[in-house]
Amino acid sequence: MKKEKYEIVAKYIECTATASASTANLGPGYDVFGLGLDVLQDTVSIKIERKTIANKNNVKIIMNGDLGKSIPNDLDSNSAGKVAKKIISDYNLYNYNCLIEIRKNIPPGYGMGSSAASAVATAVSLNALFGLNIDDTKLLDYSAEGELASAGVKHFDNVAGSLFGNFVIVKTHPKLEFIRIDSPNNLFMVICVPLIQVPKMKTEFSRKVIPQQVPLQKMVHNVANACSVVAGFYRKDVGMICNGINDCIIEPARQKLIPGYEKIKKRSLEEGAMAFTISGAGPSTVAFLDSSKKGLRISEVMEEEYDKINIKCKTFMSKSGNGSRIVSLK
Ligand code: HSE
Repeated sequence: MKKEKYEIVAKYIECTATASASTANLGPGYDVFGLGLDVLQDTVSIKIERKTIANKNNVKIIMNGDLGKSIPNDLDSNSAGKVAKKIISDYNLYNYNCLIEIRKNIPPGYGMGSSAASAVATAVSLNALFGLNIDDTKLLDYSAEGELASAGVKHFDNVAGSLFGNFVIVKTHPKLEFIRIDSPNNLFMVICVPLIQVPKMKTEFSRKVIPQQVPLQKMVHNVANACSVVAGFYRKDVGMICNGINDCIIEPARQKLIPGYEKIKKRSLEEGAMAFTISGAGPSTVAFLDSSKKGLRISEVMEEEYDKINIKCKTFMSKSGNGSRIVSLK
């Protein structure tokens, strides 16, 4: 983007925004489908202060809460830092000090869109503070800058779910575009987070295990299922969505990274889950249901199975979330 020549004067001095957890891929929609969740959110508060001499060292990040402890606060290794750096550079906002405080509620590195949520809330806050009027597609693009910190590449599916909420399809070719569809009211997810050690750049690592080339037949299989997911969201038909959550490319490659995956999937489906897959890059898994009734039993079987292999886990029942929200602006 063309750098702003003129100084932008901030409209506000403090903004707090939340952004939701998300699950990405939903089986066949690798890097394309994102779904906002309503169960956990990160909160980002940004305070800005005018300074007399503009310089590039103007952003400080503070990670709050236990879950934030493992996340580096240097700008290039932190998803919020990456976003702030890019927006500040594009709009030439070096004449403000910027203090970013992040309260992490979404476990980082487990496939629930934790890095995406902090990135989204940062982009939304800076946009509001400086009155930048960034349009939704560009806001999506800025938010995805944050994924460079954890995935090494920009992928838009988690940030789309976290920013806009509900179900979002992201197209990147020939240009970045998104299509948001409301989720059916009776769509429920049970997300299971196994508390195993994950590699530092987990998403980057788990992207490397995916085959770079796939046979045409597998492509046909996944495209057909992805279409069923999309049609299901349009028709508000959970059965049709779940029928499409069936992926023959990514899941077989990545499930090897998740201890007990096949067993947990089998038991969840036996107990009434209508579909089951890896949440984003894992190791969390997600079961889909059309009512909350069976959710508790499914959480129990997930916990039982992990317990058998001496792994602790956390389960969350979630509906679709509404995306990012500004909580206060002054
Ligand atoms: N589409 C991304 C991946 C999501 O599967 O690597 C990461 O959460």
